[in-house]
Amino acid sequence: MNDRSDSLSGKVAFVTGGARSIGAAIVRRFASEGASVAFTYVSAQTKAEELVREIQEAGGVALAIRADSADVGAVKGAIAETIDAFGDIDIVVNNAGIANVKPYDQMTMEEFDQLVAVNFRAVFATIQAAGPQMTAGGRVINIGSINADWNPIPGNSAYAATKAAVAGLTRGLARDLAPKGVTVNTIQPGPIDTDMNPAEGPYASLVAGMVSLGRYGKPSEIASMAAYLASPEAGFITGATINVDGGVVI
Ligand SMILES: NC(=O)c1ccc[n+]([C@@H]2O[C@H](COP(=O)([O-])OP(=O)(O)OC[C@H]3O[C@@H](n4cnc5c(N)ncnc54)[C@H](OP(=O)(O)O)[C@@H]3O)[C@@H](O)[C@H]2O)c1
Repeated sequence: MNDRSDSLSGKVAFVTGGARSIGAAIVRRFASEGASVAFTYVSAQTKAEELVREIQEAGGVALAIRADSADVGAVKGAIAETIDAFGDIDIVVNNAGIANVKPYDQMTMEEFDQLVAVNFRAVFATIQAAGPQMTAGGRVINIGSINADWNPIPGNSAYAATKAAVAGLTRGLARDLAPKGVTVNTIQPGPIDTDMNPAEGPYASLVAGMVSLGRYGKPSEIASMAAYLASPEAGFITGATINVDGGVVI
């Protein structure tokens, strides 16, 4: 964990897909700032348990919940479990996501539907379940992708479309939740070194050459922006899509 500070002290955060990669960096960062953090996983049970232990040993509070984002009932159940455990919900991070790079004429409709279910429908379902429970100062942070606006990789159209949909949803829900004093924003990462997109992976040389800073980002660099958006300092930012992408050349 980072050095502890108390900027999120007393807050309850919920992060989807929090056991590894970008999600785990956000969970660690929020916990290190004093939030009680519930997070979901679908397959990474051991990593989820290890992360909870790590946070508890550092004096933090964390709860891992198995919930498949493709299952709306499970997503809504995870929100309910978080509120049961911590009494409240202040910060929601929709991070869980899948990629499926495949020529458009070979992708099955089942694969297309799975991308939509995890990357887009679950985002709406989470906010639908959590929004009514949230109060002034609440924060919704969606993890979109720079691929909503920039697409150098062939076969990535369906993934890109789900992320563009998240940006559109963000603008709409920012209006809907504004009367409650809850902000809704999307972070659009560029290439980040994770299991999904390893810096040594098949797209590395193509992609890194299109990033002004000439490198992949780190999960902690997305967590930094999430921590800022979660903080009181970001109270006048809503409906925004914020690129954290090392300056991709669009
Ligand atoms: N890495 C990049 O370059 C990049 C760039 C732009 C945007 N993003 C976005 O950033 C987010 C995180 O990506 P990442 O790179 O950290 O991906 P990753 O390394 O593949 O990790 C994916 C995370 O999502 C969770 N997840 C996947 N399917 C799920 C499901 N059906 N239900 C619940 N959780 C599910 C995984 O849970 P388990 O651990 O349990 O499997 C895991 O925590 C995604 O939304 C992705 O689209 C990533």
